[in-house]
Amino acid sequence: MSAALIDGKAVAGRVKESLKTQIASLTAANNQPGLAVVIVGNNPASRVYVNSKKKQCGELGIYSEEHTLPETVSETELLQLIDALNQRPQIHGILVQLPLPRHINEQQIIEKIDPAKDVDGFHPVNVGKLMVGLPAFLPCTPAGVMELIKETGVTIAGKECVVVGRSNIVGKPQGILLLREHGTVTICHSRTKDLGEVCRRADILVAAVGRAGLITGAMLKPGAVVIDVGMNRNQHGKLVGDVDFPSVQQVAGWITPVPGGVGPMTIAMLLQNTVQSAAQLI
Ligand code: GUN
Repeated sequence: MSAALIDGKAVAGRVKESLKTQIASLTAANNQPGLAVVIVGNNPASRVYVNSKKKQCGELGIYSEEHTLPETVSETELLQLIDALNQRPQIHGILVQLPLPRHINEQQIIEKIDPAKDVDGFHPVNVGKLMVGLPAFLPCTPAGVMELIKETGVTIAGKECVVVGRSNIVGKPQGILLLREHGTVTICHSRTKDLGEVCRRADILVAAVGRAGLITGAMLKPGAVVIDVGMNRNQHGKLVGDVDFPSVQQVAGWITPVPGGVGPMTIAMLLQNTVQSAAQLI
């Protein structure tokens, strides 16, 4: 058997297309959605993501501005910038690209962002709302993963869902989103005893650990939906996921490619959150 590909680029394209009328009417009402992206230092991966976010804002008619700060910027200066962005009515979304340099306390920065402009969904207020089922900005990558699962037509209710990875950005919120759709959720991590045994229970598996090729075909139930959040460079400098694509493709029912799977969805969800913020839907 060979797994069907889930085309993240196509799904993201449809999400973005569906935002266009709303952006046009907000703009006509003098309320063009606006996103501020803050980038600190010269992390090459962060630079690629930020460029892509800006470009796609432009394509959709979302106002965007970039604030590039040197690696040596102080925490105080960064907090002041966020404060200024919080005050500006033209800015509906503030995104501080992570990771930040080690001398800056990431959590303190996240908590400075007005929760009403936290289009990343990282502020504890939004995390808490997500936890108890209140309307909140959903973190972009896990929200994008949910759209990709929907695309397969596989229902989540009652299914065994295994999330590999427990980060605040993906693993933990992913578990909550799957639970909200009535999945039976297991979150695995570096101390999970027999990863293969747990993964083989999964009808739906989300891999988000950042280890190239960790998930192999032998660790899967035949026909499973496999969503690969990983973005790793292999020894040849090629972008690869957490999933060993050749072996998994033989066993899974559906699989997301890397690139072209989760990545485009993350940005589409960010744009959606920015539009929702401008429309004051959250
Ligand atoms: N770094 C990696 N993923 C993300 C993300 O979704 N948002 C931000 N702000 N930084 C990231």
